[in-house]
Amino acid sequence: MRISIIGLGYVGQNLAVCAASAGHEVIGIDLNYELISDLAKGKSFVPGIEEQILLKLISEQKFHPTISSEAITGSDIVVIAVPTPVDNLRKPDLSAVIKASKIINKHISDPTLIISESTSYPGTLRNVIKPIVEENKGNIFQFAVAPERVDPGNSKWNIGNTTRVISGLDDLATRRAVEFYSGFCSSIYEASSPEVAEAAKLLENTFRQVNIALVNEVSEIVSKIGISGTEVVKAAATKPFGFMKFYPSIGVGGHCIPVDPEYLSYFAHQQQVDSKLVDLANELNQGRVEQVISRIKKYLGKDLNGLRIQVAGIAYKTGVSDIRESPAIKLLDALENNHATVSWHDPLVQKIEDSSSSNLSTEIDLGIIVTPHPEIDFTVWLNNRTRVLDLSVTEQEFGWPKFL
Ligand SMILES: NC(=O)c1ccc[n+]([C@@H]2O[C@H](COP(=O)([O-])OP(=O)(O)OC[C@H]3O[C@@H](n4cnc5c(N)ncnc54)[C@H](O)[C@@H]3O)[C@@H](O)[C@H]2O)c1
Repeated sequence: MRISIIGLGYVGQNLAVCAASAGHEVIGIDLNYELISDLAKGKSFVPGIEEQILLKLISEQKFHPTISSEAITGSDIVVIAVPTPVDNLRKPDLSAVIKASKIINKHISDPTLIISESTSYPGTLRNVIKPIVEENKGNIFQFAVAPERVDPGNSKWNIGNTTRVISGLDDLATRRAVEFYSGFCSSIYEASSPEVAEAAKLLENTFRQVNIALVNEVSEIVSKIGISGTEVVKAAATKPFGFMKFYPSIGVGGHCIPVDPEYLSYFAHQQQVDSKLVDLANELNQGRVEQVISRIKKYLGKDLNGLRIQVAGIAYKTGVSDIRESPAIKLLDALENNHATVSWHDPLVQKIEDSSSSNLSTEIDLGIIVTPHPEIDFTVWLNNRTRVLDLSVTEQEFGWPKFL
């Protein structure tokens, strides 16, 4: 089949490689010219998308990355994989989904299956995407959702072995979507409606947000008697049933965990239902960096004014270069607002706006570990007996006890 994917970020690129490897002809559209030109050369910023595979698929004419939206003409299936962030008021920003739907409306005139992989609140497929795509076209399309669950950098779980939840607006749409995903997913779950699938995706990430807020709170409580929340979680996690471990941290980051619960909260308020727990977890995690800063000040017994502090790892999690919503960036800002002299080291990020990664330094008063990519070697801090606070969420020890 001829498959078009609108949006070639983390989600779109993974899908493109899977669908093209499964034998489809894949047209990938993105409005970012630099990204398309890199992809054409086999270069990708997405962990796990390898140069030789990209070049092979491109040379075999199975994958065509392009900025031209007209290229979707004649597709059997069009997949929407564009971002669904929040706006300045932390309300859903569906502008990219709306734009993608308009592109489909403009360039597709034959019966086509439209699938949305973008995360959004229940009813987005039915009430936002469908009316735009169908405007002046009549009832020639089928619609389905198949929310993506990819976890970039996860070596165990990928598109192939993670169950895909799918649901169409009618039986034909569901059947066609299931047939497409069965070509590269080993397990499919058919939800009874697109709204169930959309809500399930929001629940998955809200579950994480709420549990992370909970362990952060426990960490604050037990710190008052000088014990580590991480150690408490480790002990609790020995229970083989009824408990799932989440570790204390400086907050949540990335495009999903801090954002998707806001979509659930927005939807709840649209339905005139309270979402107190979701809202509280959002609020707690948003304010988490300030809480950690005051804990650091208490621990040091002084203000941060004039202290030379270096942060190791600023991506939102290990193994990726993604800094979207990264709490480490908020930490850098908060340290600066407290008049510390701040530097950072992240071999995967290298540059943010006007500041760049610097080598791990010994000329500092305090080192802070946030995102310990495997590429970071802490020997220099260990050898120099640098004062270090390990705020990372991994189980791995780096030579200092977990601070949170
Ligand atoms: N990143 C993840 O781990 C992940 C996991 C599951 C679900 N999701 C969801 O999948 C969706 C996509 O996320 P992502 O991480 O791939 O985003 P991303 O920002 O990495 O990629 C989206 C791409 O879409 C492009 N784009 C935006 N508007 C466009 C338009 N009108 N036409 C063409 N291209 C356009 C952007 O240039 C960008 O390259 C979001 O709804 C997200 O919540 C993401």
